[in-house]
Amino acid sequence: MDSTDTDGEVRVIDTGTPPERYARGWHCLGLVRDFADGKPHQVNAFGTALVVFAGENGRLNVLDAFCRHMGGNLAQGTVKGNTVACPFHDWRWRGDGKCAEIPYARRVPPLARTRTWQVAEISGQLFVWHDPQGAKPPAELAIPEIPTYGSPDWTDWVWNSIEVTGSHCREIVDNIVDMAHFFYVHYGMPTYFRNVFERHTATQVMRSRPRADAAGVSQSTNYGVESQSDATYYGPSYMIDKLWSGGRDPESEPNIYLINCHYPISPTSFRLQYGVMVEKSAGVSDEQAEQIARAVAEGVAIGFEQDVHIWKNKSRIDNPLLCEEDGPVYQLRRWYEQFYVDVDDVRPEMVNRFEYEIDTARALANWQAEVDENLAAGRSAFASNLTPPREAISAESES
Ligand code: FES
Ligand SMILES: [Fe+2]
Repeated sequence: MDSTDTDGEVRVIDTGTPPERYARGWHCLGLVRDFADGKPHQVNAFGTALVVFAGENGRLNVLDAFCRHMGGNLAQGTVKGNTVACPFHDWRWRGDGKCAEIPYARRVPPLARTRTWQVAEISGQLFVWHDPQGAKPPAELAIPEIPTYGSPDWTDWVWNSIEVTGSHCREIVDNIVDMAHFFYVHYGMPTYFRNVFERHTATQVMRSRPRADAAGVSQSTNYGVESQSDATYYGPSYMIDKLWSGGRDPESEPNIYLINCHYPISPTSFRLQYGVMVEKSAGVSDEQAEQIARAVAEGVAIGFEQDVHIWKNKSRIDNPLLCEEDGPVYQLRRWYEQFYVDVDDVRPEMVNRFEYEIDTARALANWQAEVDENLAAGRSAFASNLTPPREAISAESES
């Protein structure tokens, strides 16, 4: 499509259309501990409904929610032994998809088999593999473990989720390269910003300090101190963010892990989930550490709610108009496309190594001037900028 008008002067937005298919890859559905309570749970994902349940043997299973007998919803049923029993006529479905028993019937039809989803439990999280071509997950796409998960020196996950309607999940993936929005939407001052895309991974390395004119948003009031964030997507939907907060040496191990992940519900809705785990520093009790993790999660929540507010009110745009300080949006989207085409159609430019560092000098000088001006005038960036309607948004969020 032509992106200019007849005079060649006015840029026209090409909205494109969100893809009908869903990305190939591992998708995190949530925490194991929230699913493993002996009850069936419904997860709406990939344009359908899934049922997640743990039987007597403790293993988590994921099946299509709709019963192959007469379409009953297994998520409304009951776990019986190692099966999930349909609430409609009590057919019992095993984790491997076979119908094990029909209490009122002489025998089970030999073809009574439903769709199962391959699962993985990693760092206390449940993943399912989605592939429109039906292949098994290749070993090299395995989600890495968080090395500190389960350590007595770290908290467990503080986990939250928000359902985002009216947007394709590409919106959140775009954030990987979006240096400038960290100032306007997340009240940070990025001092260093670099991206690396390679195979199925996309990384963002950022150093930043909090905006001094946005007090109350950041946990830190130490505006001169930089934090480092080293965030990598493994596949289309699961990001591990290592954080070195409060000036901690990035040569050492990170003191915070943040998970930022999502799964698609429909072509225009998705569930965003995020989890925080923090190191228990010396002299800090377990409860205090939990509190710190919750406070970090609250800060992340404010950031995501503001992202969501932007997405809900923006246009889809396939031809963003970029300046030099913007990150490599087009290259990122090429990387992202590898998950939406058949394996045989993955082209080298989708998976080849690509690196890009943004020169933040000009941005920083201008932003510092803006912050100073706000401080001198007693204005808060937080109060005057997006001020998200928190009640409206949190009404949809689910903890
Ligand atoms: S619809 Fe599930 S048992 Fe009949
Ligand atoms: Fe963002």
